[in-house]
Amino acid sequence: MDIKRVCVVGGGTMGNGIAHVFALKDFEVTLVEAKKELADKALAVIARNLDRQVAKGAVTAAGRDAALARIKPALSPKEAPGFQFAVEAVSERMELKKSVFRELDAAAAPGAILATNTSSLAVTEIAASVKDPSRVIGMHFMNPVPVMKLVELIRGLQTSDETYQAARELSIALGKTPASAKDFPGFISNRVLMPMINEAIFCLMEGVSTKEDIDAVMKLGMAHPMGPLQLADYIGLDVCLAIMEVLHQGFCDSKYRPCPLLRQMVQAGRLGVKSGSGFYDYPGK
Ligand code: 3HC
Repeated sequence: MDIKRVCVVGGGTMGNGIAHVFALKDFEVTLVEAKKELADKALAVIARNLDRQVAKGAVTAAGRDAALARIKPALSPKEAPGFQFAVEAVSERMELKKSVFRELDAAAAPGAILATNTSSLAVTEIAASVKDPSRVIGMHFMNPVPVMKLVELIRGLQTSDETYQAARELSIALGKTPASAKDFPGFISNRVLMPMINEAIFCLMEGVSTKEDIDAVMKLGMAHPMGPLQLADYIGLDVCLAIMEVLHQGFCDSKYRPCPLLRQMVQAGRLGVKSGSGFYDYPGK
């Protein structure tokens, strides 16, 4: 499938990163946001992240300008002319995702593929909201999207081989390595990552050690780029909690119970980097 025009719905952290990587690889991108101010904000973040790449010599100034010119903001998928591939990256609420998929379905060119960047919700259920669920797939990018090499591809129950192949080829065209997973709660990435983060929070809650030493063990002892508590702050503690709830409910297994301290942090509004404090403080954020 020769894909040239894509529609990205949602310009938050993941959506703007996804639009960024598509535009850098010469795709025409429509970036859909609910309000013009949100689309402008997403474009400003993309410009800033492209500037980082220019400063590092990874992208030329002309490449940055061309990539930015390829991204057109819009308020609805109806304003994305003839898109052949869409990636939904709105917040992790099933009803919201289904309504975005119904809009995409109504606006899509015949044969277009509809992907969700969900981090843990059931792709099969999202797919059931469109006329042809065989054209729906999970395409889970990692944050920061311009940097991380992985795309997790999740086949829903009815995803066709053709849809899977197209998403796989597209991931490679974006310079990413695809890894495939079946549609089980948390897929591979968050089924493995989130219990580790949750366990680190139990270690902190039980006084096994300080946050600094828990992070140091995983950074220096296991060569992780960030310790689990620092990474939880970076991902967002509300996101971590929501994913643990999906695992806990999906598997009905107490080994996935969210740590009470994680729940308290979210109740307190300490969500990590985005709220200015989590396990660590982020003054000025
Ligand atoms: N856009 C473009 N470039 C970016 C960027 C962005 N948003 N963020 C970082 N970079 C670039 C920097 O410019 C730098 O480039 P260089 O290697 O050419 O110098 C490089 O990335 C490293 O950045 P920094 O020097 O600023 O900082 P660090 O070396 O500390 O790296 C990090 C930052 C890449 C975030 C690193 O700490 C890391 O890999 N952390 C772990 C990230 C991770 O685990 N992500 C997965 C989260 S889970 C997930 O996304 C799934 C979801 O469902 C929860």
